[in-house]
Amino acid sequence: MKRFQQSHVDHYRDHGFVIVENFLTPEELEGARADLTDTLPGWIEYCDDPSLPKPEGWESGRIQGRGPMQFPYTGLFLNDITLHPELRAFAAEMMGHNDLYCEQSHLSVKCKGHPGDRDQGMHCDFGNHTLAYPPNDPAYWQTAYLLYYTDVSADHAPTAVCSWTHYPEKIRWPAHYSREDRTELYDNEINVVVPAGSLLAYSMRTFHRGTPFRADAGRIGQFITYAPAAWKWLGIVGWSAQAIRPEFRQWIEGASPEERTLLGFPSPGHEYWTPETLEGVAARYPAMDMTPYKRAIANKKA
Ligand SMILES: [Fe+2]
Repeated sequence: MKRFQQSHVDHYRDHGFVIVENFLTPEELEGARADLTDTLPGWIEYCDDPSLPKPEGWESGRIQGRGPMQFPYTGLFLNDITLHPELRAFAAEMMGHNDLYCEQSHLSVKCKGHPGDRDQGMHCDFGNHTLAYPPNDPAYWQTAYLLYYTDVSADHAPTAVCSWTHYPEKIRWPAHYSREDRTELYDNEINVVVPAGSLLAYSMRTFHRGTPFRADAGRIGQFITYAPAAWKWLGIVGWSAQAIRPEFRQWIEGASPEERTLLGFPSPGHEYWTPETLEGVAARYPAMDMTPYKRAIANKKA
């Protein structure tokens, strides 16, 4: 890992979150913003310059766009950032092994007055990321990232996050506290005020919340979450629901075996692979290079 320094790792382990300013390279940021300009007409422009009119249809809550709001996206950069080696490496470091599953990648777009413009209560995210409960054992840790593609000032509804040091209790339940119920979580919150291209990483045991816009402005973010692959009770989505989309076929045909495995696709050498499944998968995804899967079978036989 290069972009996550040891100090970031230490901060995460002590506080349950870390902010990495300018995580993306200028090329990655510009590429992603170009993808977003196509996917969400007018939004990058508006977020950069709120004196412009708000994008068409902004108030409906249904973002008017030309592309999907979740992985796989139109354009290469948002897909590549979803499976960014640095995001994978940090999540792997946290859980102590490299058997990862990318359980989430979707865009978050909002502006003042939008249905997403809310003064959220302090909460942990595990309500819709696990069927069970997130223990303090790193082997079960999910790592959530929020990447910001437009500048976040105090006016731009910064995410607020509270360090583990302010709630030392072992059991994180309730997973939601109002300001009246637990004022110290709010009094000790840190606002993630960062330039575009920055990142917040946080755990399922970390209290945080969305704050409201204080001025006419907008922001675009991307939620990306990694989980240990082994446990069926973890994860916010099933990728099969997306696999029917043409964008998915395009992505999976061009991905590496390692990238496919991050979405739960059977890895080379898995017992799933037989002459029948090789033929069936190749029929479904004609441009997929089946060589690594075939070779693994041949190596097993040898
Ligand atoms: Fe949340």
